[in-house]
Amino acid sequence: ARIYVPIDSGALSLGAEQVARAIRREADARGIAVDIVRNGSRGLFWLEPLVEVVTPQGRVAYGPVQPEDVPGLFDAGFHHGAAHPLCHGLTAQIPFLARQERLTFARVGLTDPLSLDDYLAHGGFEGLKRAIALAPADVVQAVTDSGLRGRGGAAFPTGIKWKTVLDTPAAQKYIACNADEGDSGTFSDRMLMEGDPYCLIEGMTIAGLAVGATQGYIYVRSEYPHAFRTLQAAIGRARAAGWLGASVAGCGRAFELEVRMGAGAYICGEETAMLESLEGKRGVVRAKPPLPAIAGLFGQPTVINNVMSLAAVPLILARGAAFYRDYGLGRSRGTLPFQLAGNLRHTGLVEKAFGVTLRELLEDFGGGSASGRPLRTAQVGGPLGAYVPATQFDVPLDYEQYAAIGAMVGHGGIVAFDDTVDMAKMARHAMAFCVAESCGKCTPCRIGSVRGVEVIDRIIAGEERGRNLALLDSLCDTMLAGSLCAMGGMTPYPVQSALKHFPQDFGIDTAAAA
Ligand code: NAI
Ligand code: SF4
Repeated sequence: ARIYVPIDSGALSLGAEQVARAIRREADARGIAVDIVRNGSRGLFWLEPLVEVVTPQGRVAYGPVQPEDVPGLFDAGFHHGAAHPLCHGLTAQIPFLARQERLTFARVGLTDPLSLDDYLAHGGFEGLKRAIALAPADVVQAVTDSGLRGRGGAAFPTGIKWKTVLDTPAAQKYIACNADEGDSGTFSDRMLMEGDPYCLIEGMTIAGLAVGATQGYIYVRSEYPHAFRTLQAAIGRARAAGWLGASVAGCGRAFELEVRMGAGAYICGEETAMLESLEGKRGVVRAKPPLPAIAGLFGQPTVINNVMSLAAVPLILARGAAFYRDYGLGRSRGTLPFQLAGNLRHTGLVEKAFGVTLRELLEDFGGGSASGRPLRTAQVGGPLGAYVPATQFDVPLDYEQYAAIGAMVGHGGIVAFDDTVDMAKMARHAMAFCVAESCGKCTPCRIGSVRGVEVIDRIIAGEERGRNLALLDSLCDTMLAGSLCAMGGMTPYPVQSALKHFPQDFGIDTAAAA
């Protein structure tokens, strides 16, 4: 029997390694031949460790499996796909998966992450082959035509960024992949790097050939040691097979790739602080201009893209810009791998075309709150994202429609809260987070966040509430307008959205205010 046990760090943290060993032990003891493949995660976290058995009908899912379940699973004949209380039927038919539109995550969880044969058998390197056959400017045009926008959160058109680098003459250019996935409740970059590393390698190589960069760096956050090791191993194998190096796939053009590990600072996810860190310096934000696309790493033109942006590229080249563009709505084209976290029955990865609503994600996919209480709000787009109240759960997830309600889609992280959440404490937390993570370069952020915590404390304590609310408002304006980067500049989003939608939590008498 062929049995899949994930090697993704989420599954490992829930005991996948022990489960794999228990399956090996039990199979050996029973004299049953099993071939255990370590795959990425399917992204159904409440079922992890999710073990799959290959049957003629397809892969059958069992989960969450613990080592002590393994003898019973063999007794029931799970290695033939037999019924068992932990069995969920065919994996592909589990509604959470079946309802998704997995483009970027098409292979994640299906394949052995480090197997080049698996990668090639599932459409791997098709995009790169196509890119090699095209002129660089046409590769950039395809990315522009696809409508792909920066998936790190800022949603800047990827093709336009690439064109800036392509059009800037320099002896040396770089591709820098931002894998410093620091947003709370996010994990799509990690899952892809651990579950389908060649996809990122392929995307970066295409970017390199397109803009004329011969060297790429992947900046991985220190909290992701598994991703780091997986990427290193994958790069080694890709190089040995000729997909990286002096002549990529024999095309005569070079592209090399290295992984670098951060040291645990949220601000190193800001692109210019990341460049400083890559150059071996302290992660402090640089003033823009110059844009990194003009003068980035070591002063050279640099494409900086998030993992998700680069990982979307192989498919765009392989299937064509129109294929990708057909998903989504308005100016938000393609799909976004949303990440469900917080107080939900079913957390995990949901890749859907733009236009899906928060309600669908939280209720149809997430299954409602884990606590059984009503969901009150969700923070969308990380710790700098706004709190979206239940009354706005039906707004389609689209960059522009979210901006119109004072929220942001960001990197697609969604953290859900039930009606026991205290939004004044959440607002305070946003300021406290900024205190902890500010790089200290500019005053509105460095000092403003400290003052923000103090003033929210006074509001919570009921001290001169009117005056302190006005002060908080003015402080938020200053941070929004006067901060050098998004850290200080966006901290007011969670604070102001909490105040606007949940004034009662701040002791504001809404009846009197009306
Ligand atoms: P930004 O809007 O200043 O820039 C977006 C990107 O476009 C940058 O790479 C910039 O260099 C580039 N760009 C702008 N104009 C250009 C031009 N004319 N030609 C070429 N390139 C150009 O936004 P920023 O500060 O880079 O990112 C802020 C976002 O980061 C937030 O919206 C937030 O969602 C996100 N974020 C994501 C985190 C994560 O863990 N993924 C963590 C924290 C924030
Ligand atoms: Fe540094 Fe904060 Fe200013 Fe950004 S806003 S440059 S993190 S001090």
